[in-house]
Amino acid sequence: MLDAGLDVSVDGVGNVRGRWRGTNPERGTVATGSHIDAIPLSGAYDGTVGVLGGIAAVKALRGAGWVPQRDLLVVSTTAEEPTRFGLSCIGARAMAGWLTARQLAALRDANGTTFLDAATAAGLPPTTPADAIARSRFAPAEMTHWVELHIEQATALEAAGAAVGVVTAIAAPAALALTLTGPGGHAGTVPMAGRADPLRAAADVVAAVEAAATAAGGADTVATVGALRLSPNAANSIPREVSLTVDVRDIDKRRRDAVVRAVRSAAVAAAKARRVKLSIASPNADPPAACDPDVVTAARGAAAELGMHAPDVVSRAYHDTLILAPYTRAGMVFVRCRAGVSHTPDEYASAADIEAGVKVLALTLAELARGGTPADPPPPRATSCPVTGIVASGVGSFVCPVNQLAGMVGRALGLKGVGGKGGGRAAAGGEL
Ligand code: HGY
Ligand code: MN
Ligand code: MN
Repeated sequence: MLDAGLDVSVDGVGNVRGRWRGTNPERGTVATGSHIDAIPLSGAYDGTVGVLGGIAAVKALRGAGWVPQRDLLVVSTTAEEPTRFGLSCIGARAMAGWLTARQLAALRDANGTTFLDAATAAGLPPTTPADAIARSRFAPAEMTHWVELHIEQATALEAAGAAVGVVTAIAAPAALALTLTGPGGHAGTVPMAGRADPLRAAADVVAAVEAAATAAGGADTVATVGALRLSPNAANSIPREVSLTVDVRDIDKRRRDAVVRAVRSAAVAAAKARRVKLSIASPNADPPAACDPDVVTAARGAAAELGMHAPDVVSRAYHDTLILAPYTRAGMVFVRCRAGVSHTPDEYASAADIEAGVKVLALTLAELARGGTPADPPPPRATSCPVTGIVASGVGSFVCPVNQLAGMVGRALGLKGVGGKGGGRAAAGGEL
């Protein structure tokens, strides 16, 4: 961000922000960005393409001598993945005003470390939850638009033979965190007849999750048990405690909520049948998002201007954009990724496809930051992204020749002297 000439700051929860002052900053801020945190055993492109691509896009525009009316902001958001603190998109929720100081204070990781203690250990100045939220939250209508570049994590673009796509809607996740507890006991001396085994109850829940999603009948309805922990996790001991997460998604909120209800009642029945205790927390149940027409139109126009076929696509993964959509005019540009693989080390997007995405992003941002349309605040949204409960729970490496990427885009847009060899304060060779 410094190399791209941006004013860099870190907000109260660790979102890293690179700002380019426009000529009419009172017309608001157009933002782009994504996340660089990752799930365990992740790929190298999920999120990172949107942070480095946002920097390269802005660097290319600056290199061309173009000047925005509105401020242009690139954000590397905090904690988009729920991996460590059990809540997704913590940075985006704080920016949009959906995360309260009380909810931030309640966040703990699997070792009981609070979010702010982890932030201080990562180098942020010690602060209070209220101050952290105050220093992260955007004022209403301050951010006029948000555009995120991201790999598709599915196969629609590959099937269409397209390098980039314009996202029109984003599916919404609802998370459940279940804990089942029983007396435990000696594997050799407790007869089968009297057992109250929480893992056996959890097995019924896992089967019920799959059955409920399949029965919902929507191609977009998915549900997953992705994390399960046993205690004491000993070969010769009947489990005493089992905790598991349930991730339910759909484009259709009603259908998704019906699956969540079915899972809840199956868990209650399984606990009863196995005579174990059950507790259920629901960290979030976010509304699905339709991407804003301004952003969709600008992205389609950018692709057309570049002579690219950029089909409309739907995102079944959620993103920071989902959380920002009720707060500002938000949308996304997708980059094709190989076989749609994501959230595994095999995740891959080609440099050519990333370059195409960065070009479309650059022209989309230019259109939105031109400030042609009055910075009218986005239409009031009935929904917010409720954080309904808080729960607890490892990272990928990414090497990106940022200068090379900016250079490619710069040259492609007929911009001179952008990026290229060195020239930045990034690590040697412009790699991060
Ligand atoms: O889970 C998701 O959809 C996102 O990758 N965090
Ligand atoms: Mn992800
Ligand atoms: Mn992501």
